[in-house]
Amino acid sequence: MRTVEWQKGSVRLIDQRWLPWEFQVLELRDPTAVAEAIRDMVVRGAPAIGATAAYGMALAGLRSDADSVEEMCADLEAAADRLHQARPTAVNLAWAVKRQLAVATDPQWTSADQIRAALIRHAHQIADSDVEINRQMGAHGATLVQDGDTILHHCNTGALAAVDYGTALGVVRAAHESGKRVHVLVDETRPRLQGARLTAWELKNLGISFDVIADNAAGHFMRTGQVDLVLVGADRIAANGDVANKIGTYKLAVVARENGVPFYSVAPTSTIDLELPSGDDIPIEERPPEEVLTVAGQSVAPEGASARNPAFDVTPHRYLTAIVTENGIAYPPLARNLRRSVEGEAI
Ligand code: MRU
Repeated sequence: MRTVEWQKGSVRLIDQRWLPWEFQVLELRDPTAVAEAIRDMVVRGAPAIGATAAYGMALAGLRSDADSVEEMCADLEAAADRLHQARPTAVNLAWAVKRQLAVATDPQWTSADQIRAALIRHAHQIADSDVEINRQMGAHGATLVQDGDTILHHCNTGALAAVDYGTALGVVRAAHESGKRVHVLVDETRPRLQGARLTAWELKNLGISFDVIADNAAGHFMRTGQVDLVLVGADRIAANGDVANKIGTYKLAVVARENGVPFYSVAPTSTIDLELPSGDDIPIEERPPEEVLTVAGQSVAPEGASARNPAFDVTPHRYLTAIVTENGIAYPPLARNLRRSVEGEAI
């Protein structure tokens, strides 16, 4: 199944909190439950939470008992606020909610039912186009991968982080599908272990060669010439090309530059936020300290220890070799080429 699906008036999500141990599906029928599922990481990954939020807005339409267009729009605004607050960094969530509000407020609608139907249609469009966009990024990005390459990858950017196929891991997948032999060094990605739990699970299912490595080992592999390129996703990219992504990405980028290893971010144009001039303006989510203080439910620090847990960091644009979007590969100057990419012009 897809990571996020619509079925008869409910949203079905692969519950990523249980992987790789159990494959469980959660079925949600109201927008508040969708916002909670996003906050609790049932579903995570920028494009996946964007599509989930779009379906959350469709559920808000269905659950609203509004009779008039005005009442419906007020209910949708309230649902949009709740969804917005679920996770602040990945702009895809805000992007999808904004698009759904624009659909709802289209002056052509004369009844609440028309809005309900339009929201469901548009959520399907967002989900279907996410899959198509991932395949396009995969095709562009695969041109950067040579037969025999070893790719260092951080977090999870595969089918589970999107509606299907994946962003940075979609590039790995496209290279593999085109017959290139690739090997992936999978950063385990503390504290939530998206690499060890989710990326390794996906690569195993796809039959792609990999080794899980401790995050701390990445520098060793780059310095000793065992990495050909680094591929990561993005949760928000500012207008100047600064990339917010899973915590630890910045450190990887600096070490990659030091060792002459190309460093690419792969993300749909819906992750590019042209309204923010630089990465300094990107809100960074702080998650509960328990995620740092425990591993698989077991405490790893003395009782009463405190912790800091920023979920993302910002990699300044000067460390990026290029950014891959569905519209091609944007090389520096990123400020100019990302804008062109968003506007669909030749890069
Ligand atoms: O906290 P998460 O698991 O939602 O973080 C996910 C990432 O940081 C991914 O790298 C990012 O969303 C891009 S994946 C398509």
